[in-house]
Amino acid sequence: MYKCFPNGTEALSGITVDIFSGQCLLIAGSNGSGKTLLMHMITGLIDSSGGTIRYKGEVLSHALPLIRRQVGLVFQDADAQVVGETVAEDVAFGPKNMGFSKPDIETRVNAALRAVGLDSKRDVLPHQLSGGEKRRLAVAGILAAGADLIIMDEPFANLDWPGVVQVLEIIRNQKQSGKTMILLTHELEKVYVLADRLIILHNGRIHADGSPEEVLNRLDPAWGVHDPRQAY
Ligand SMILES: Nc1ncnc2c1ncn2[C@@H]1O[C@H](COP(=O)(O)OP(=O)(O)OP(=O)(O)O)[C@@H](O)[C@H]1O
Ligand SMILES: [Mg+2]
Repeated sequence: MYKCFPNGTEALSGITVDIFSGQCLLIAGSNGSGKTLLMHMITGLIDSSGGTIRYKGEVLSHALPLIRRQVGLVFQDADAQVVGETVAEDVAFGPKNMGFSKPDIETRVNAALRAVGLDSKRDVLPHQLSGGEKRRLAVAGILAAGADLIIMDEPFANLDWPGVVQVLEIIRNQKQSGKTMILLTHELEKVYVLADRLIILHNGRIHADGSPEEVLNRLDPAWGVHDPRQAY
């Protein structure tokens, strides 16, 4: 697939990627490499300029209802994702829209808040949460809605060390429970040990795709990604 904007910017070109169920895929690339755009295209939030995107064998236009139910995207900007007046209402938004019964919604909300460690904040206003807590809130919403595929765009942005550890814990737990994960980041050092596969995006193209060790062993400095195994 590719993406060309009306101003002539060719932001993604010749992208071919298969995403396998149960895999923890890390997509790394410097600022402007196309990470956010790629995810917005895969989830149908932005149209591609050409090429084919399939989800579970179906072309994107047919698969959109399924994608909306099964794919959860944690945005780079956590504030953009707040929809409820309280933390608990925010988490309940997805299951409510999916038509679950009241007791089911309650069970799902409680389990999701516990999973991200926000159960004591259920009646707090989302805007009063810290940046890290907001990101965990977004994850809780996705868990409550029952997403199978979780995409996190810059999951560590603006987080202090305890916040990073909390998000890593969530990633580890979700991976263990068999969810498919796609993590988009330039902060490889925080998470590469959890990844099954590493893709390097640079200038809108895929430059490497393989096991983290294999890709890191042939990292090109021009790609703008630091090898997390080496000191700065
Ligand atoms: N609406 C638009 N019009 C023109 N170009 C755009 C538009 N949206 C994005 N781009 C370009 O697409 C490219 C990829 O942007 P994208 O946001 O996907 O990068 P990214 O890898 O997520 O970067 P970051 O690490 O800063 O989040 C950039 O060069 C950006 O300028
Ligand atoms: Mg981005």
